[in-house]
Amino acid sequence: MLFDSKPINGVSPNYRAIAIVGVFILTVWIYFVPPWGSSHPNTDGTYVAGGSSSSGTSPRELAANATLGFQTILALSTGPSWRSRGLNAAAKYVGIQVQYPPQPRNPESLVEAFQKIGAGEGKTTPAKGSATAWFAHLDLLKHFIASDLETAFIVEDDVDFDVNIKQQIRLASDNVRNFTKVTDGSPWGKEWDMLWLGHCGTAMVEAGQQEGLRYRDNSRCKTDLYSGWSKHFLRDFLEEDHRIVQWAGFMTVCTFGYGVHRDSAQKILDITAAGADEAFDVALSHACGTGKLKCLVVNPQMFNHYEPSKDSGYLSEVHIGDGQGAGADDAKVEKSMGTTGNIMQSARCKVLFNNRCMRPPSEI
Ligand SMILES: *[C@@H]1O[C@H](CO)[C@@H](O)[C@H](O)[C@H]1NC(C)=O
Ligand SMILES: *[C@@H]1O[C@H](CO)[C@@H](O)[C@H](O)[C@H]1NC(C)=O
Repeated sequence: MLFDSKPINGVSPNYRAIAIVGVFILTVWIYFVPPWGSSHPNTDGTYVAGGSSSSGTSPRELAANATLGFQTILALSTGPSWRSRGLNAAAKYVGIQVQYPPQPRNPESLVEAFQKIGAGEGKTTPAKGSATAWFAHLDLLKHFIASDLETAFIVEDDVDFDVNIKQQIRLASDNVRNFTKVTDGSPWGKEWDMLWLGHCGTAMVEAGQQEGLRYRDNSRCKTDLYSGWSKHFLRDFLEEDHRIVQWAGFMTVCTFGYGVHRDSAQKILDITAAGADEAFDVALSHACGTGKLKCLVVNPQMFNHYEPSKDSGYLSEVHIGDGQGAGADDAKVEKSMGTTGNIMQSARCKVLFNNRCMRPPSEI
């Protein structure tokens, strides 16, 4: 309920809508290599806990493999488009492999029935576009469960990441393992139901009130350059050039990229397929906040969505689904460079435009 009732620390509940607003500032940033061999093992991010896998590969190197230490990376996608073509190019550039399971189309009557769940009981219900996107996540989770895989990393097909994603992933793996005390040599362990690496912000509270493990990652988005409602949390509670691994207390939203495993995928399905919320990510956020799901979040995010330039006439699928107009054609979208928020060096923009395209910083 924390979403619908009162703003927390001045964060308005409709931040997702207002977070779209921004002013364009061109920023150039030089990336510094992490300081290997620092004397602070918990902040230099170089710690490698526990053993190694049977293959003899260290957990952090497994995490940096072509499927980021999961058995597979599954993209949520309605078919080839600028989204998947850009993702494929970016993935190839950094050395990762993405699978695109065919996405079933659901009858409108099913989506409409889903939209109505909880309506009579005063529950929040999703708009049509959000309900359709919600189904897509449910269908992908079912695909994963049915394919008998142990672990998967699920991404939305407009996802973007830094050209340094592999190094960021090594650091995240080290610290997720340390934080959740993984000893089995696996890159991520399974202490969580959801490993939330790609989101559009998460709330933080003062150290001491909420457990977390801080670690140095020099390639993360500088706090000044961050755009989003959760920016003030970074400024107030997290050192520059550091990330934190923490249990999602509250308000983590947007499902740009998240890890699941066999048991947790079924758990997520059990909870979120019951509908009666604004959107899939908000339902997840509520389940994480109430402790129904154990959600482990890396903050700031490592995956963010790429947004085509406004000049191309682009509208998101969810907005089109909600009846807000028709989208631009792909050729137009692919010709002009868009932006990716909160990623210093977008892999999409690097490979497609040989440029940086960070979304202008903003407080919302
Ligand atoms: C693991 O994290 C803790 C902080 O929770 C830190 O004190 C410790 O040094 C880390 N372990 C190693 C070996 O770096
Ligand atoms: C990456 O590592 C994970 C975990 O060990 C493994 O399941 C997966 O098959 C590996 N991916 C590739 C492409 O080797």
